[in-house]
Formats: sequence, structure tokens, C-alpha cells
Amino acid sequence: MNFLTKIITADNTETFLNTKVKESYHSQTGAVEEALKKYALPCKIKELAKTGKIKILDICFGLGYNSAMAIDVALAENHHCEIEVVGLEYDPTIIEKIQEVSPPIHFFQHYKKLTLSSLSFQEGKIIVNVILGDARETIKQLPDHYFDAVFFDPFSPKTSPQMWQVPFFEQAFRTMKNTAILATYSCARMVRDNMSTAGLLYDNGPLVGRRGPGTIATKWKNEDKINP
Ligand SMILES: C[S@@+](CC[C@H](N)C(=O)[O-])C[C@H]1O[C@@H](n2cnc3c(N)ncnc32)[C@H](O)[C@@H]1O
Repeated sequence: MNFLTKIITADNTETFLNTKVKESYHSQTGAVEEALKKYALPCKIKELAKTGKIKILDICFGLGYNSAMAIDVALAENHHCEIEVVGLEYDPTIIEKIQEVSPPIHFFQHYKKLTLSSLSFQEGKIIVNVILGDARETIKQLPDHYFDAVFFDPFSPKTSPQMWQVPFFEQAFRTMKNTAILATYSCARMVRDNMSTAGLLYDNGPLVGRRGPGTIATKWKNEDKINP
């Protein structure tokens, strides 16, 4: 049975509704808007692009909008920027659906190369690699202190509570550079408490679409940051 139904969100961009978990893959107030305003902007992708190299961990990759949008933002700032994206996703069905959407994200045309038989590609200085499997396990194979930006986009804490627990945030912390920023759409108390227990410092992320602000998390307070 097909449990994925295409829907059009309020910014006129497509996503899917997952009827098994009764949640959509993006905010219904705007799928592409969310990728830009909840992930690329708070993770300071534009600023990172100036350094010439960005490593992005796209947790719960889905259709890949968040990292594809970040690539657009980075390349608009610095056309020569080297970008590595690692995506973690456990559902092959949603990867197949990449072929059925055409969001207004320029780099997304290359994401169409992602198929179940080919989960990575290189396009110029951009490398994208999707690791299929439960992110709670696959994250363990990623190196320490590696990523500049972490996009954390599971289904809600109610639907996927296992993704929002301390052990997962500890793993995310481990993979983050000291200067890295993690962004997520949730501002739930439980989520923030678990981030704190894992050693992350959190703050309000942008208020876009959904009821509350998102959350951004770092390893250090801004004023404690050592130069990158
Ligand atoms: C809200 S959607 C993410 C949307 C995605 N960021 C995009 O731009 O299309 C949540 C995603 O988390 C994935 N997911 C849920 N549990 C997971 C797990 N344990 N490991 C990896 N992915 C998981 C789902 O399959 C789904 O694609």
C-alpha cells in the first residue's frame, strides 16, 4: 500500500504526507521555506561558505531539501566552495520519491542522481553521500569533530521519540566541530533537556511556520568560542 501522498505546502512547494505516521516531511506552511529558514540560515551556511569548505550532516535526509537548499545558499555566496553532505535516512521509499518532486532549489536537479543503487555522487566540488539505515546506528561510523552544520529533522518527538534521546545527541555532539551549529524545528522541553544532558547549549532558533521557535544548539557559548 502506498503510504506517501504528495501535498503542496503554503509556499507552493511539494512534500509528502506519510499516512503511516500521520506526519508530513516538511512544515505545511512551506517546505522549501523551512529548509532555508530553519536549517540553512541558522546554521550560518552563507558565512561558512566564505571559508571555502563546508561539511554538513543531514540527519533524517528524506527528500534532501535541507542540504540541497544549503548548497544553493553556499554556492550563491562562494561559487568555488567545497561542500560535503552526509545524509542519514532509514526509509528507502522516501529516497525513491526524490524523482517525483521538483522544488525550486537549483542544486536539487543533481539530487535526482540519488537512487537506491547509487546513494552518492560528486558534482564539481560537491559530494553527497546518503547512508541508508537507522541513524542511531549509522551515526556511530562518522568521525569526531567533523561537521560544521548539523540539520536534525526527524519526525516529531511524539512520533519518533527514540531519535530525540540523550544517546543520539551525544553522538551528534561527537561529530560536531567546536564551532558547529545544530538546527532543528522542535522547541520541546524534553528535546532541549536531552540536548543539555548531552553537553549541548541550546537557544531559540527562528520562528517560521510552526507554533514555536526552532532550536539551535552548539558545543560552546558564542563568547567562549575559540577561533575556527
Ligand atoms: C520530517 S522527515 C525529514 C524530511 C527531510 N529532511 C527532507 O528534507 O525531506 C523525517 C525523516 O526521518 C526519517 N527517519 C525516521 N526515523 C529514522 C531513523 N531512526 N533513522 C534514519 N531516518 C529516520 C524518516 O524516514 C523521514 O524521512
